[in-house]
Amino acid sequence: MQGNAQATLINTTDTLISSKPRLLLSINDLSDDDVDLLLDDAQGLIRTQDIGKEAILNTAILLFLTPSLRTRVGFSVAVHRLGGLPIDVEEYRGGPEMTASESFDDTVRVLTGMTDVLVTRTPFKLDRERLEASAECPIVSGGDGRNEHPTQSLIDLLAIQEERGPVSQLRVGIIGDLSMRSVRSLVLLLDRRLPRELTLISPPQRSGLGMELGVELASRTHWTQEPDLSRLDVLYVAGLPESGEGGTLDGAVRMTYSVSRENLRSLPPSAIILSPLPVIDEIQPDVRDDPRMRIFQQSDRAVFMRMAVLKMLVH
Ligand code: CP
Repeated sequence: MQGNAQATLINTTDTLISSKPRLLLSINDLSDDDVDLLLDDAQGLIRTQDIGKEAILNTAILLFLTPSLRTRVGFSVAVHRLGGLPIDVEEYRGGPEMTASESFDDTVRVLTGMTDVLVTRTPFKLDRERLEASAECPIVSGGDGRNEHPTQSLIDLLAIQEERGPVSQLRVGIIGDLSMRSVRSLVLLLDRRLPRELTLISPPQRSGLGMELGVELASRTHWTQEPDLSRLDVLYVAGLPESGEGGTLDGAVRMTYSVSRENLRSLPPSAIILSPLPVIDEIQPDVRDDPRMRIFQQSDRAVFMRMAVLKMLVH
């Protein structure tokens, strides 16, 4: 509950040592044990369909400065199931229309002083040092610019494991724009939970992951421009917007990397298809009923992972 969310530790001499509120801005803010705990907790919540039995939170503020359906509503539902009240804030006193703008840092300081946890989505990359200086309660990023989307990748890994088992035995392919934040967070997570193989499939204009792979993951990773899906157990469809880094993409190029009847011919029958959603046109309408398509089963489980994340942050 509010006030307790900022953890305090008591050492052996009974001196109070205050610790900083926890920030979940990147997958790398989680230890390997944290990832295991989150997966276990979310899987347990799925098994028991545990909704509304715990009173973990009083309030959570959802500061969403760019559009979101799944993340904003998913966190709202998760907060409610944990006994709390979600409070939406969709603008702050910092836009260009304000004659006297308030800084984002002051906004964070004020909001985090009122609640148990702050969930944010911003059009810009979050500045860790400044948030550390401002935060009075835990903060979780629901996506910051093109940087990261850590809870989405936890949801993705949960879906992979629920649908197909341990990722260590699976050949995972990611198709589309590799500079997207959901891809970047998923690759960081796969660097920690190594798949059997990782295939990154994109046109050259959108192959900029913008990060170094760890040695182990790099040794299992194959980069290609060919949409050959024949060696995959999991196909993760990231999306390929018309405009982005590397300029505007030709429509025919975009369709080459869409999930179509033609491309799916090479995907093994036991493989699954996942997506962070929303789907724009990267999955063609006539393959939406393909039995390998698990995109809505993936999103159906997302609230359980968001519950697990909130529980970890406020405890
Ligand atoms: N996947 C995802 O982040 O969706 P929203 O933008 O709707 O939150």
